[in-house]
Amino acid sequence: MKTWFFVFFFCFSIYTFGIKSTNVPVYVMLPLDTVNNDGTLNNPTQLATWFQKLKSGNVEGVMTDVWWGIVEKEEKQYNWSAYQQLLTLVKNAGLKLQCVMSFHQCGINVGDQCYILLPPWVLSVGQSNPDIFYTDMHGHRDQEYLSLSIDNRAVLNGRTAINVYQDFMTSFKNTFGSDLGSSIVEVQVGLGPSGEMRYPSYQLQDNLWQFPGIGEFQCYDKYMLSDLQNYANENGHSDWGHAGPNNAGTYNSLPSQTGFFSDNGGDNWSSAYGDFFLTWYTNVLINHGDQILGIAKNIFGSYNMRIAAKISGVHWWYMTDSHAAELTAGYYDTINHDGYNDIASMFKKHGVVFDFTCLEMSDSSQPSYAKCGPQELVQLTLHDSLNHGVPYSGENALTCYDNDSYGRIESVAREGITAFTYLRLSSDLVDNQSNWGNFVNFVNAMHNL
Ligand SMILES: *[C@@H]1O[C@H](CO)[C@@H](O)[C@H](O)[C@H]1NC(C)=O
Ligand SMILES: *[C@@H]1O[C@H](CO)[C@@H](O)[C@H](O)[C@H]1NC(C)=O
Ligand SMILES: *[C@@H]1O[C@H](CO)[C@@H](O)[C@H](O)[C@H]1NC(C)=O
Ligand SMILES: *[C@@H]1O[C@H](CO)[C@@H](O)[C@H](O)[C@H]1NC(C)=O
Repeated sequence: MKTWFFVFFFCFSIYTFGIKSTNVPVYVMLPLDTVNNDGTLNNPTQLATWFQKLKSGNVEGVMTDVWWGIVEKEEKQYNWSAYQQLLTLVKNAGLKLQCVMSFHQCGINVGDQCYILLPPWVLSVGQSNPDIFYTDMHGHRDQEYLSLSIDNRAVLNGRTAINVYQDFMTSFKNTFGSDLGSSIVEVQVGLGPSGEMRYPSYQLQDNLWQFPGIGEFQCYDKYMLSDLQNYANENGHSDWGHAGPNNAGTYNSLPSQTGFFSDNGGDNWSSAYGDFFLTWYTNVLINHGDQILGIAKNIFGSYNMRIAAKISGVHWWYMTDSHAAELTAGYYDTINHDGYNDIASMFKKHGVVFDFTCLEMSDSSQPSYAKCGPQELVQLTLHDSLNHGVPYSGENALTCYDNDSYGRIESVAREGITAFTYLRLSSDLVDNQSNWGNFVNFVNAMHNL
């Protein structure tokens, strides 16, 4: 009798206290045009209604871009008024807020529904000095985001790009300090185009790039070229410092059409030259993240909230040896080299959350000739993060309302993610019964994994 009781009690305790289901909070991304270009909040009445609905669906909070191009329209004058108004609406609904420091342009990437350029005073500097922008080998400039080459060059009317990001984040902290760690639960720091730490290697503007092109290296502004030459000199290969690889194809090439990304011999990605160039190209990107995240940690580190940064899910050509598209985007990931390991280790240094996209995607939904591996890529980045003790959070890359996508997200979440941000709030999500029903089921499933 006694034994029976203990066995029963033992099992009961495991059931009640031991088997804890995982709870992953779900946030919802706000529309890109939540704040208008003139700095006013877009349709606050509708936002308030939507927020109540999200709250009723057990959503934890929302994520908003905080656009540099809207807040610092005039140099060193920050206008946060729309974001203050937004925060009030979020708080009134009992939700939490994730803020993205969006130092990039909105309007040319997948899903962009409005144009928000970089601040006018930055564009004006760019007119007299276009080398502040990423440049490809044809001389095409990309005005989405400042080139990392001016991080430490005081070419922005006496400030470096790092100074500019630091001043912006400091003003944000001074304005929202009393809500950091309470209503504002995360600051995500934009480190490149689309807010992702990457190069603009696959640009949609002017039809430069189409899926599944390999993209192009962006190292041809005069400052990057000069940095490359210095690096080459230091490494005893001054002849390697004149330019990027000359056999890497163009935006829409396939790997097999190039010498660099295929195995047609010569100076390919796995040659000594290839390793030299790819090491430099990824290291300057990681160093860019390292500097800015170090500053973000100084500014925000004392608040009880997450600091996060986003890595792009460049999944096409993942199933080849060279991973061409990841290489041009700045991730030195090949069959021989795990490019996300060094990134996770840099995030670890600053206590930064590794935010990754495309958690909903399946390999089989992609065309087979593009050798995509979104599911393998999610597994690789997740395990690199967790191995470093870096929290991992996720997003879906494209709009999805179907149970299959939700199911894939849930199974990744079960492996130990910190939070999920759903892309994106719209009338199609909240006003369509079937979409809303599936979504609420998903949110609840994420609370009981
Ligand atoms: C900030 O922007 C709002 C919205 O455009 C405007 O009404 C307000 O006057 C601006 N504040 C300042 C100090 O310029
Ligand atoms: C690439 O270059 C290296 C060194 O030049 C060579 O050994 C190799 O066969 C080439 N092809 C591949 C696929 O690595
Ligand atoms: C999605 O799954 C839920 C159960 O989680 C079910 O109620 C709903 O009917 C499913 N929707 C579709 C379109 O299969
Ligand atoms: C709801 O959304 C689905 C797509 O997820 C679409 O097929 C359906 O037509 C929509 N229903 C209404 C009433 O708009």
